[in-house]
Amino acid sequence: MAFVQATRINRLGTETAFAVAARAQAFTASGGDVFPFHLGDMNLPTPDHIARAALKAIEDGKTGYCPSAGIPQLREALAEEINQSHGTRYTMENVALQPGGKPVITKFLQSVMNEGDEVLYPNPGYPIYESQIEYFGGVAVPYTFLPEDGGGLRLDMAQLEASVTPKTRAIIVNDLHNPTGIEHSLEELEKLARLAVKHNLFVLADEAYFDIRYQGKSRSLASLPDMAERTVILYTFSKRFAMTGWRLGAAIGPKSIIDVISKLNVNNESCSCHFVQYAALAGLRENPAASREILETLRRRRDLAVEMLNAVPGIFCPRPEATFYLFPEVSECMRRKGFDSYKDFAEDVLVKTGVSVCTREHFGRVLAGEEKKYIRLAYSGIDIDRIEQGLTALIAYGK
Ligand SMILES: Cc1ncc(COP(=O)(O)O)c(C=O)c1O
Repeated sequence: MAFVQATRINRLGTETAFAVAARAQAFTASGGDVFPFHLGDMNLPTPDHIARAALKAIEDGKTGYCPSAGIPQLREALAEEINQSHGTRYTMENVALQPGGKPVITKFLQSVMNEGDEVLYPNPGYPIYESQIEYFGGVAVPYTFLPEDGGGLRLDMAQLEASVTPKTRAIIVNDLHNPTGIEHSLEELEKLARLAVKHNLFVLADEAYFDIRYQGKSRSLASLPDMAERTVILYTFSKRFAMTGWRLGAAIGPKSIIDVISKLNVNNESCSCHFVQYAALAGLRENPAASREILETLRRRRDLAVEMLNAVPGIFCPRPEATFYLFPEVSECMRRKGFDSYKDFAEDVLVKTGVSVCTREHFGRVLAGEEKKYIRLAYSGIDIDRIEQGLTALIAYGK
């Protein structure tokens, strides 16, 4: 029987960065030596005490279903943790565990967005926003960033404000941002909060990188006045505890929305993995030094990568204080090498240096009027000696 996919699937996007991984794999298979800066994954082990807690939970028989919103101990521990870091007043009723941070995007949209509603999302940004808004029948309205001297970017607040219409229902904010690594200033967060209140918008605060910070203190939109009642926080154990493959995250927000999200849990996965929740509990409660070690490793990688990228002629790379991404401006380098197309440039860099990167094109549709060109390098999945080798080759390529 011929398969004709359901029409809604035509609206479903994907993470096109997976094509970069496939290309890198093919290059390796043909004998090439790849420096995997395209990976958003981590090559650091999950701390021992977390792994041991999972094994113990399995031995203790935590292998059946558990409540759909998660085990109460973890919901409570997470509420306490967030209250400390965010200055909020959540209880376990405000927390629904999820199989990763990613499902929070889907379930937030399913909970608050009707068909035809407009949702503002960052572009460049995590590509799943665009995909899921459109899949569930919404209209994805991009907001963007303005170039700054030195290769940096900042929120284009005027464009964002001008994009609000009577149909705007929600805004997605990814502060500590993938792919750019930028953070919003307090002033920008306050403007975003005022905008959300003025237009009565729901807010998804994607805080996947809240704890991946090398200096200073992360701030949350949810802690600003009148925001907790309209904001769902995307929390994840993936990055802070190097647990990307364990699949555990949480939606944290007003009880009314969290109840709907828990009902979606019942309909989707029933519950998140039971014994993994005990591992996450150990992550929150024991041995904070383990997360600090992860951060230190990432910091060393960042410092070297930024320094070396800025030594490539025509590449300008700011030094973000958070996330594990770099988003250097490469317009001049591309021009010197005779490329206008991102795809051709990335392919040339791969073939000639082995350095595998994502480009701006992997983070949402390229918008009209964009003049400067950017690539994204992740340093979470590549050891420091390989960063050095790969970027040495890139410096030679740029000359
Ligand atoms: C901005 C952002 N949000 C959410 C996620 C989802 O992370 P996970 O599902 O691994 O928790 C990611 C993962 O890379 C991300 O970059």
